[in-house]
Amino acid sequence: MNKIHIFDTTLRDGEQSPGVSLNLQEKLEIAQQLAKLKVDVIEAGFPIASQGDFEGVRAIAQNVKGPAIAALARASKGDIDRAWEAIKYSDRPRIHTFIATSDIHLKYKLQMTRDEVLKKAVEAVAYAATLTDDVEFSAEDAFRSDLDYLCQIVEAVIDAGAVVVNIPDTVGYATPWEFGNFIAEIKKKVPNIDKALLSVHCHNDLGLGVANSLAAIKNGAQQVECTVNGIGERAGNASLEEIVMALYTRKTFFNYETDVDTREIYRTSRLVRNLSGMSVQPNKAVVGKNAFAHESGIHQDGVLKERTTYEIMNPELIGLVQENIVLGKHSGRHAFKVRLQELGHNLDEGDLEKAFVRFKSLADKKREITDKDLDAIVEDEIKKIPEAFKLEYVHISSGTRIMPTATVGVIVDEQLIEEAACGSGGPIDASFRALDKAIGIHPTLENFALNAITGGRDAMGEVNVTLKHHENVFTGRGISTDIMEASVKAYINALNKLAYEIGVEKQNEGEEQENGNDNHRKDLSCTCR
Ligand code: KIV
Ligand code: ZN
Repeated sequence: MNKIHIFDTTLRDGEQSPGVSLNLQEKLEIAQQLAKLKVDVIEAGFPIASQGDFEGVRAIAQNVKGPAIAALARASKGDIDRAWEAIKYSDRPRIHTFIATSDIHLKYKLQMTRDEVLKKAVEAVAYAATLTDDVEFSAEDAFRSDLDYLCQIVEAVIDAGAVVVNIPDTVGYATPWEFGNFIAEIKKKVPNIDKALLSVHCHNDLGLGVANSLAAIKNGAQQVECTVNGIGERAGNASLEEIVMALYTRKTFFNYETDVDTREIYRTSRLVRNLSGMSVQPNKAVVGKNAFAHESGIHQDGVLKERTTYEIMNPELIGLVQENIVLGKHSGRHAFKVRLQELGHNLDEGDLEKAFVRFKSLADKKREITDKDLDAIVEDEIKKIPEAFKLEYVHISSGTRIMPTATVGVIVDEQLIEEAACGSGGPIDASFRALDKAIGIHPTLENFALNAITGGRDAMGEVNVTLKHHENVFTGRGISTDIMEASVKAYINALNKLAYEIGVEKQNEGEEQENGNDNHRKDLSCTCR
């Protein structure tokens, strides 16, 4: 069987999704998980774009082993040098350089002629090839480019040293029939095409990203560029899990396989969802909450008699373990530790103790604790960033005929700060206002999403928030059986990321002390202006 190379661009194109911003540790964690998933290439970022991007790519190149680590660069020496600086530490560094080739981009964006673009592409590839053997070239907006001109560029960049040539449908305009033919034509018309790996990169503006990628594979593409959960610019990119599972489930039709360890798909999807703050629609193929749920009686009856009546994939194949009721309030440390290890969480003693305390307090409120609850506890409790702000308590008073009010206690610099606020928008609004007053930072709430982790009245609620502050975006997540507490925790989690990434500084400290006002501090400000 032929192999399809999986090029994951969650950390580059995926991170370009509106409202997504990952810090260095989050990028590293996702990259480590992508290595476990056994993708062939991780595109770690666009180093010239920002210092944060550069550092993220460098950290991944230094620490993540297995897949090739790619960095994006426009077709210019400055970009390529910066990309190389970031990835040169990897055992398998790849420079991915690109320039647009469609007339519409040439005329309005680049204001260059076709000859000038061709020359620039060749120069960029030739220069990148002096730094590494692994050079990929992308013709941005390839699908809307003149086919003969595109073929001329593809041939020239292969001669200049590109070992991978990528054909993006940048604006998601293609249909599967057209895109399949387009790839077949390139294979036919470019004489040296066999000297390079032919790749595709399909956006999802018409919901056809995966279909177009599969049509390209049927017509000779050997690498697909995709993202976990399909996140990315605008409507996103082709989704990794859908492509991989289509190739796996319809093996005899495609006759291609990937090296991806499918049992890591669900875990990877959850991690990306949690860290990016981008929720996954319940009916999303493969990883959506309902992807393996059978609601109608006829279907349930069929599945109970024989799973394959209504299931084309076994949920265990993507690492979705049955919702086992594993532990309860009488379970001890040992059983807890063993189950966490079975779920892939190998915690050190300190973190294990923290998670165990949290588990016991949950077991007092919730009769049956499932694997999903345990995953959530670990993800929530084992904080990966220092906590500049720690929630001590929250008290909310709300009802149908009263103005909601919230009082919060937050520990900042080992000092308890207490504040209260009313919220015309409801109890969550009141508690966020109280937190803003206590901490002294006033971000905009861009997104708020609440989900139940498991079913039942005692289910744990999971809240994801996205905050914007001076053009910087931070996501936060909190879980609790009490959705108000989960909301407040999510908000504080996002503020902790803000403090960690750009720092907060004290202001007006003298003034506050002069006023003898210890408890009401409005003396912190972020340093990102
Ligand atoms: O969509 C696109 O064209 C891209 C390229 C930079 C590969 O993301
Ligand atoms: Zn793209």
